[in-house]
Amino acid sequence: CGIVAYIGPKDATAFLLEGLQRLEYRGYDSAGVAVAKGGALKVCKVKGRVADLAAAVPARFKGSVGIGHTRWATHGVPSDANAHPHVDNAGRIAVVHNGIIENADELRARLQAEGAHFTSETDTETLSHLIAAHTAEGTDLEDAVRAALAHVVGTYGIAVLDAEQPDRVVVARNGSPIVLGIGEKEMFVGSDVAALVRYTRQVVHLEDGELAVVRADGFRTFTEDARTVTRQPSTVDWEVGSYDTAGYQHYLLKEIHEQPAAVERTLSGRLDERFATAHLGGLNLDARELREIRRVKILGCGSAYYAGEMGAQLIEELARIPAHSEPASEFRYRNPVIEHDTLYVAVSQSGETYDTLAAVQEIKRKGGRVLGVVNTVGSAIARECDGGIYLHAGPEISVASTKAFTSTVIAFALLALHFGRIHDLSPADGRRIVSALKALPGQIREVLEQEEQIGKLAAEYADHAGMMFIGRVRGYPVAREGAQKLKEISYVHAEAYPASELKHGPLALISPELPTVALVPDDELLDKNLTTLGEIKARSGRVLAIAHRTPEAKLIDHCVLVPKSEPELDPLLLNIPLQLLAYHAAVALGRDVDKPRNLAKSVTVE
Ligand code: G6P
Repeated sequence: CGIVAYIGPKDATAFLLEGLQRLEYRGYDSAGVAVAKGGALKVCKVKGRVADLAAAVPARFKGSVGIGHTRWATHGVPSDANAHPHVDNAGRIAVVHNGIIENADELRARLQAEGAHFTSETDTETLSHLIAAHTAEGTDLEDAVRAALAHVVGTYGIAVLDAEQPDRVVVARNGSPIVLGIGEKEMFVGSDVAALVRYTRQVVHLEDGELAVVRADGFRTFTEDARTVTRQPSTVDWEVGSYDTAGYQHYLLKEIHEQPAAVERTLSGRLDERFATAHLGGLNLDARELREIRRVKILGCGSAYYAGEMGAQLIEELARIPAHSEPASEFRYRNPVIEHDTLYVAVSQSGETYDTLAAVQEIKRKGGRVLGVVNTVGSAIARECDGGIYLHAGPEISVASTKAFTSTVIAFALLALHFGRIHDLSPADGRRIVSALKALPGQIREVLEQEEQIGKLAAEYADHAGMMFIGRVRGYPVAREGAQKLKEISYVHAEAYPASELKHGPLALISPELPTVALVPDDELLDKNLTTLGEIKARSGRVLAIAHRTPEAKLIDHCVLVPKSEPELDPLLLNIPLQLLAYHAAVALGRDVDKPRNLAKSVTVE
């Protein structure tokens, strides 16, 4: 979900609506705003997109202080009533909230017994009644919020507005980000900087357990026990332009095309040609400590998990250290055994995914060491880790991950190279990987030049109820990510299987109605892959091969060629056509590419 707030001389609603539009990728099933004026609140909220909200907000909806929200439903269906802001029964306190109030049922029962009347199914509504209950005559809003939060168990980023104290907005953070933007006699709030960068570069990130009272001329941060803390503003370095579509039809397409530049940034300053290794200053681990590591466990969710699978493969191949990737969401619930000689690596574009963060916290609680592979500088996961690698891929707005995925694989290649050269990877092999990494941006460009051809194929294949993706060993994570991308944005059912497993079950599905996308790199498993294609064709299956050389015509229906890298890095290039395939399939089917149904970019709840 996304949060915004404004206080200053201008019209709050205009900023709130624009800020929400910029945060819409975080959730988009309902949206709402509240402004305070003349001792009363005006609230407008609707099921649907921010554009629906903008159309519903009356012209007279003006005020110099307000809060807004765009939602990804957890408690209660998307509806006008469940949309935020939530207001207490006196119509005085309005609250927007990200996160989950775990003791909401208990609070609701107590508040109802005290006379509160609930109008939604959300956990958030408990906060507006609870804060109202602590707002006696003459109480400062910040004190009321602080007192109310003492009763709350759960995670939150909140912004609170009081009709009777329109000179301030109070915000609080516990597990869900809140950023203050400092302007000229005006202040902004966002749940991430994307909402703020058009207005200011000076920002303050609240820490967990902190609150702030925000006024037009400044702010004060303090802890839950009312101790004032001083926070120095930092400067946002991502370009304002990186938050626009830059003339592309969708963010997703722009981000796909940004990959050569993103990879260059991930590699920048990290390749050491002399010693044929990688410099990774942020690991905070010296060679001796690294040599003691016996195992690598990689944790992430969604595409981050699949990028981790490619990372595990790279680490095993280049460093010969057993490595494995697991969904962070599963890991944290199975009371994992934490070993002192295992290196844990948390992967997250946003650095906010709650399941991944919780896994990191669990490992740290048990004394394990965790590195982060994260895109967003200063994010919760980055701060929780003992060290790591920043991707520097630039902001990723489209819900489906593309450039962050690719940059994550690059970061793992650097880690594997660094590890490898501490272990047994020869200088010659190190050099082989270094020069292959340097060639990747140009090779990605070559793949992107085939967009038109891939677009035509996508339109043709999108016309099926489902698709199979297969790959062997290095190709299997590519198949999984390819299937994931197609599912996410085109809603075409897609399954990924190791090519070797096809004959053990899913071959039963193969028919002209279920085409197969096959990853067929020119490596030591080429013959095996060609045999599998023969088995598919023998069952009248259709095959789209992603390959280095076009297989015999009788084995395929179509082929997209990608340039060859070193075998360890080939998966990264094989994945690029699958991004374009998913994108153009989604466009052909008329899907909402950047905001696929039911999903959100950052899932900051369990
Ligand atoms: C959500 C998004 C996915 C993303 C996953 C992990 O589910 O819809 O696209 O891969 O979160 O996000 P992270 O920010 O941790 O990489």
